[in-house]
Amino acid sequence: MKFDILKNNCLNIVENNELKFEDKLLEICKILKNEIAYYDWVGFYFRNGDKEELILGPYAGEPTDHTIIPFGKGICGQVAVSNKNFVVEDVTAQDNYISCNFNVKSEIVIPLFVDGQNIGQIDIDSNTLKAFGKEDELFLEWLNSEISKIYNS
Ligand code: SME
Repeated sequence: MKFDILKNNCLNIVENNELKFEDKLLEICKILKNEIAYYDWVGFYFRNGDKEELILGPYAGEPTDHTIIPFGKGICGQVAVSNKNFVVEDVTAQDNYISCNFNVKSEIVIPLFVDGQNIGQIDIDSNTLKAFGKEDELFLEWLNSEISKIYNS
């Protein structure tokens, strides 16, 4: 499925007033995982209150043991601190990486900003090496900006 069609589907979920925020995120995770062949695990992490740690939110894919990630640890924890996209072509080349599943070869993490604050992120794992490119980054930035509009709704 092309990203423009996927954008429409995601917007329909975001704007569906019958779904709660968490359910919207879960539907988005499922659609992304199902429609994009190289998206093998799709999930959201959010800052855990005032603590400097991330807590796992809705996700689609294999369950992970890493439901809490301290700031600075792993790719996710680094994005919580850097506020920048992190595209990992080859996870084996990363020193500061938390492995959730041995099949994973590449990863992308895009921060989610609400009122300029980095409040969480979308994290996608792929079982394909060098799976993610600029198109993925742009699509996921767009998605997070749409989600930020309904945060706390
Ligand atoms: N690989 C991530 C941990 C989260 S799992 O991918 C679900 C990291 O290094 O932060």
